[in-house]
Amino acid sequence: METQSLTIQIKKVEKSKINEVDFNNLAFGKNYADHMMYCDYKDGKWHTPQIVPYGPMEFHPSTKVFHYGQAVFEGMKAFKDDHGTVHLFRPEQNFERINKSSKRLAIPEFPKDLFFESLEALIKLDYNWVKPGQGNSLYIRPFVIATEEGVAAAPSDSYRFMIITCPSQAYYNKPVKVLFAEKFSRSANGGVGYAKAAGNYGAQFYPTNLAKSKGYDQVIWTDANTHDYLEEAGTMNIFFRIGDKLLTAPTSDRILDGVTRKSVIQLAKDKGIEVEIAPVEVKRIKDAAKVGELKEIFGTGTAATIAKVTAFEHAGEEFPLPEVDKEYSVLMKDSLQDIQYNRVEDKNNWLHPV
Ligand code: COI
Repeated sequence: METQSLTIQIKKVEKSKINEVDFNNLAFGKNYADHMMYCDYKDGKWHTPQIVPYGPMEFHPSTKVFHYGQAVFEGMKAFKDDHGTVHLFRPEQNFERINKSSKRLAIPEFPKDLFFESLEALIKLDYNWVKPGQGNSLYIRPFVIATEEGVAAAPSDSYRFMIITCPSQAYYNKPVKVLFAEKFSRSANGGVGYAKAAGNYGAQFYPTNLAKSKGYDQVIWTDANTHDYLEEAGTMNIFFRIGDKLLTAPTSDRILDGVTRKSVIQLAKDKGIEVEIAPVEVKRIKDAAKVGELKEIFGTGTAATIAKVTAFEHAGEEFPLPEVDKEYSVLMKDSLQDIQYNRVEDKNNWLHPV
């Protein structure tokens, strides 16, 4: 992982766009902060990272990413505390995961020093775009694309690593209804399900649109072989509360190793809540719903934080979730956000001040 120089080249905007943004009405991913970072891989090495004004880039139509989807990404967040300090939440997890994803897509790994130095420089430059206050954050999207020109179906010999950022509030502005997949699959053994590969997301749009046309917001993907086991929601990992216990599927080469998922497992255990990490059978969830044992379903993800599910559908039958006191989804969200906004002691060292 040879690098040419650690010096980051910075070209600042002449005039910030920040006053054009309505921070009280943010649609997710629609407004971008003033600057972006890119770093090119050419001749077998990563070159000097550049921070430049956010804007369009030009690529040749034969650029490999457009043809073979050789692209991976990450989702992470920065939070501003009441003293004005900005904290990244568990960024080393995202760093490790983007390289894990890259490896699966035959993309060269990105060096740790360049990742952290350029990320910190970018966040410092766009400090004002990180708004304080409950629910506000700066969503950070690192990604890597194959940039070689030419449609030969072989890995690219050049890449661009980039980071763009956008101020964000809630990803889902209401609780969600989900549909358990019966026909379509998100991933299979030996595939790329564990990677944050761009194509994993694009391939979900069609079945998700079908679910939306039936009134459901998201699909909970089931295993490709039998469709009998619930895996993840695609933009979120998924938790089920049966009685007082939480249940979630184990990560595997089909399921994304979510940072919010692993944080929730830890927080739940710290609070004395039992967490069963085991294959989640559709039948078990339906049976639990029928006898009133299924109390909650919620999704966890960086963009979504914790998203409460109000109903699920399977085989033409809809199961509404009951109203419960002291919801685990609320408890987990509050505990997570208390850490993210630096309101409580960060016992696990999850915060990375910038
Ligand atoms: C994230 O939570 O960061 C994700 O990657 C989900 C995204 C597709 C919106």
